[in-house]
Amino acid sequence: MRRMVQETRLSPADFIYPVFVTHAQEGPIKGMPGIFRYTVEGALEAAREAEEAGVSGILLFGIPEFKDATGTPALSASGVIPKTLQALKNAGVRLVLMTDVCICSYTSHGHCGVIQDGRVSNDDTLPILAEMARIHADSGADVVAPSAMMDHQVSAIRNGLDSAGHQDVSILSYSVKYASAFYGPFRDAAGGAPQFGDRKTHQMDPCNTQEALQEVALDIKEGADMIMVKPALAYLDVIRQIRNRWPQMPLMAYNVSGEYAMLKAAASQGYVDESAATLEVLTGIRRAGAQTMITYHALEAARWLNHSIL
Ligand code: PBG
Repeated sequence: MRRMVQETRLSPADFIYPVFVTHAQEGPIKGMPGIFRYTVEGALEAAREAEEAGVSGILLFGIPEFKDATGTPALSASGVIPKTLQALKNAGVRLVLMTDVCICSYTSHGHCGVIQDGRVSNDDTLPILAEMARIHADSGADVVAPSAMMDHQVSAIRNGLDSAGHQDVSILSYSVKYASAFYGPFRDAAGGAPQFGDRKTHQMDPCNTQEALQEVALDIKEGADMIMVKPALAYLDVIRQIRNRWPQMPLMAYNVSGEYAMLKAAASQGYVDESAATLEVLTGIRRAGAQTMITYHALEAARWLNHSIL
C-alpha cells in the first residue's frame, strides 16, 4: 500500500550519467570509486551500459592532451569530445548526448575563462564558449551545457548555434552554480583546479537564493531550454523555489562529485546501507523539484531500480 500511494517515484530515465573522456588510458578517480577517465572506446562502452540500464542521457567532459592559456584544445574539431560524439552517433547509441561547455579543463591555469590582467575576462570568454558549443553541435551533441558561469553565455551560445544551422540543439544552462567545496574530486578527475585564486568572482555565493532566481530569469530570457542547480544536496530549497516559480521549465540538479564521494566513503566503511541511502538521496532531490538528476550514481541506481530493491 505504501507503494501504491507514493508521491515521488524514481525511474532510470530520471538520470543523466556524467562521463569523463581523455586520450590517455583510463584510470580510477580519487574519491570516486566506480568512475573512470575513459578513452573514446571506453566511453562508448559506458554509454552502452547506460543505455541498457535505461538512463536517459550522458553528459560528456573532455580532458585534452595539452592545455594552454586560452583553452585552444577546446576548439579542436578533432578533440576528444568531437571524437566521442561522432563515435556515439555512428554506433547509434540511443541516449541524449550532452556536453559540458567550459574551458577550465582545457586551460593551463584551470580557470573557466581567459585571463586578462590577472582576472577572468567574461566578455573575452563568450566567443570561445560559443565556438566550443558549435563544434560540439557539429559533431552530434543534442544538448550543450554551459558551466562557465559567464554572464550572457546562453545568448552567445544560442546565437552561435542558430547561425550555424543548429536550431534544434538545446541548451541546458548551469544557471545556478555555487562556488562549492563539493567539486573537489571532479577537479582531480578533469585536472581543472584553478592554479591561482578561486571561482568566487563568477560562481555563486552559497548564502544567496534571490541571486539564484535572478540567474534563472536571465538564462530563460537568453534562451535556455533547461536549467540546472548545482550542487544538489545543500541547495534543495533553491531547487524548490525555482520549481515553484517556473513550473514549466525542465529543471535538473547536479548531484556533484563531492556528494558522490561522501556517500561512497560512508558506505565503504559500513556506516550506511549504500543502495538505500543513495536512493533516499536521489528521491530527496527529485522531491525537492528536480525532474532529472545528473549523477555519478546513475548506472548503479538505475540497476537497483530495475531490480526493484525498494
Ligand atoms: C566546469 C565544471 C565543474 C563541475 C562541472 N563542470 C567544476 C568546477 O566548476 O569547478 C563539477 C562537477 C562535479 O563536481 O561533479 N566548470
